[in-house]
Amino acid sequence: MDKEFDVIVIGGGPGGYVCAIRAAQLGLKAACIESRGTLGGTCLNVGCIPSKSLLNLSELYIKAKNDFNNLGIEVQSPKLNLTKIMSNKNKSVQVLTKGVEFLFKKNKVTYIKGKGVLFSKNDVVVYEDGKKSSYKSKNIIIATGSYPTSLPGIKINEKNIISSTQALSLSQVPKNLVIIGGGYIGLEMGSVWSRLGSQVTVVEYLDHIIPGMDREVSKEFQKILSKQGIKFLLDSKVTAVSDLKNKVIIDYVNNKSNTKEKIECDKALIAVGRKPYTEGLNLSKIGIKKDDKGRIEVNKEFQTSIKNIFAIGDVIKGPMLAHKAEEEGIAVAEIIAGQSGHVNYDVIPGVIYTSPEVAAVGKTEEELKKLKISYKVGKFPFLANSRAKVNNQTDGFVKILANAKTDKVLGVHIIGPHSGDMIAEMALAMEFGASAEDIARTCHAHPTHTEAIKEAALAVEKRPIHF
Ligand code: NAI
Repeated sequence: MDKEFDVIVIGGGPGGYVCAIRAAQLGLKAACIESRGTLGGTCLNVGCIPSKSLLNLSELYIKAKNDFNNLGIEVQSPKLNLTKIMSNKNKSVQVLTKGVEFLFKKNKVTYIKGKGVLFSKNDVVVYEDGKKSSYKSKNIIIATGSYPTSLPGIKINEKNIISSTQALSLSQVPKNLVIIGGGYIGLEMGSVWSRLGSQVTVVEYLDHIIPGMDREVSKEFQKILSKQGIKFLLDSKVTAVSDLKNKVIIDYVNNKSNTKEKIECDKALIAVGRKPYTEGLNLSKIGIKKDDKGRIEVNKEFQTSIKNIFAIGDVIKGPMLAHKAEEEGIAVAEIIAGQSGHVNYDVIPGVIYTSPEVAAVGKTEEELKKLKISYKVGKFPFLANSRAKVNNQTDGFVKILANAKTDKVLGVHIIGPHSGDMIAEMALAMEFGASAEDIARTCHAHPTHTEAIKEAALAVEKRPIHF
């Protein structure tokens, strides 16, 4: 195997593998080091992909159970086969991780299995099964991702106190599942297990779910999830989680009344965020600086404090999203190749794959107020969208925020069917600096959910047709 490269990427997640492929496309000799045994990182192995598989399968199950008979598709009460669901999920993961290996071969990226450790500014040592091998590279990219974090004094044992990784592989449906943290992971996994039969309670520190999301969407989202059977304890700070083997006890303090409360369950999922994964890389020894949150400090060109060592994805600042890491991976490969790669952080969509989906790009109303930017709002409910109506998916709305003076779109927030796909149109529009008028004058196919976007754009100037 070759030992010298132009680019070595440490970490084969969406940031790292995409970066290695782009570097190879640009004629650089590229290698990617991965210790997991399979490529694709958290996203493909224990994150986005398996969770989406479970979200899809659990949604089919709940529809068959609750809706089919009323719609004229008569089924006997559907039976859940969790083992089969899990094996389908595992197959999807396997196909996709193998797919990345194929892409490496196709693009002539060298795949080095093992744990990469920085030895000097051009040397990486890889440990695998007690063996050690050394590699040299002109450039090194750290793309080692993140791992689930816990709360002080609370230990995730992956038995009854679990992280998202274990929540993707339970062999039985817990009777009662308490989720600590009403963020992305909590609500996606909460939806899965609630549909499969658990009584799910989400305990959230703040007075609203999904911090950072437009507040109006957050409120609507909580209302919809409550209708689906998920319980919420807001304004509640979890202070202890104890695994008594036959049950788990969660202690929390109500932030408003300052009273101490308890709740019991079979399993507790800790979903209070993720931490950059930089342990064992030897960063401080070779002089790479981290900020107070443990993230690697980089400049606009993703260079760390050592010029030829770059960092991307969850180990640096910004949202911990696979697609953000991918963009950074491409940008950094292009920068190394002498091009002017860059990432537009104003237009990074975020999607929560619940039912309905929730998707956003750009600024929220709260952010615009804080920035003192005057804006106009155009809103359109899916209740008035013909396609949503015939499909019985009328929950939610599209909300467009446009600059009050220039009409430029500043943010789009959608809660409703297929919003995860629809948000791409809005990201593209914003990338091109579109105004709400531009969107309103773009022909949208009828009948589609996307017409709700056009109508929301018309509503910015108070002229929607169907509402
Ligand atoms: P998160 O940051 O989205 O949410 C964590 C929640 O825990 C917050 O609402 C926070 O207020 C709450 N919390 C913190 N301390 C607490 C306490 N003591 N008691 C009660 N609540 C407490 O983190 P999450 O959901 O773990 O996700 C981690 C990362 O993974 C996020 O950056 C997210 O963007 C990413 N992710 C993205 C997905 C997607 O794109 N669909 C899916 C899953 C994860």
